[in-house]
Amino acid sequence: MKLNLFERLITDNPVRASIQRNVEGPMLRKMGGRTDYPLCLEIGCGAGIGAQVISEQFGAQKIISTDIDPDQIKRAVENLPPELKEKVEFRVEDAMALDEPDEKFDAVFSFGVLHHMEDWKKALAEIARVLKMGGEFFFEEPLRPFLRNVLVRTLTAHPAGGEFDFNEFRNELQRNAISIMNMKRIKNIAIFCVGKKG
Ligand SMILES: C[S@@+](CC[C@H](N)C(=O)[O-])C[C@H]1O[C@@H](n2cnc3c(N)ncnc32)[C@H](O)[C@@H]1O
Repeated sequence: MKLNLFERLITDNPVRASIQRNVEGPMLRKMGGRTDYPLCLEIGCGAGIGAQVISEQFGAQKIISTDIDPDQIKRAVENLPPELKEKVEFRVEDAMALDEPDEKFDAVFSFGVLHHMEDWKKALAEIARVLKMGGEFFFEEPLRPFLRNVLVRTLTAHPAGGEFDFNEFRNELQRNAISIMNMKRIKNIAIFCVGKKG
């Protein structure tokens, strides 16, 4: 589901970019299990800062960054520094039906994306499908109580199929043969996590 104007303004700005680059990227990097991740997929890339973080901090040689919204892909292409043009490929793709082969990627990244899915379980199954055995899934997501907050509900638009609590999410990871390697949970608000396939 595409972002409404409010959410686009809070995700596509220099403050959010700085947090992604200086807080979330380094934190997730430390939680991972490898020194590098040669081939990476990002779902819901938005304005493209995630692709830069993956390139700079995760030892990626090639990154495919995807989003369902062609306008977001256009912004991401415009924001990409010229020196990353060979390394990063942006594509319009639905994370619930990825146009990628099985077991292709060393890592998949979701920076605040699954809660935008009409069916987050479908997207998680797709992520598990395209990860290599031993590949890692890096993600940060808000949890149901946060999404049900009156202010959040008033200002943003999220599909009911994108809501989950921590236990539901952990069970679904297990069902898709992804085990949690490392996790930070901020109460019932959000999780930052790295899972490993197999
Ligand atoms: C909250 S934004 C996060 C953007 C970026 N990852 C960030 O952290 O700034 C969620 C993004 O997911 C995208 N999105 C929503 N539904 C999607 C889907 N089914 N498949 C792929 N991307 C989707 C939206 O267009 C939006 O760019």
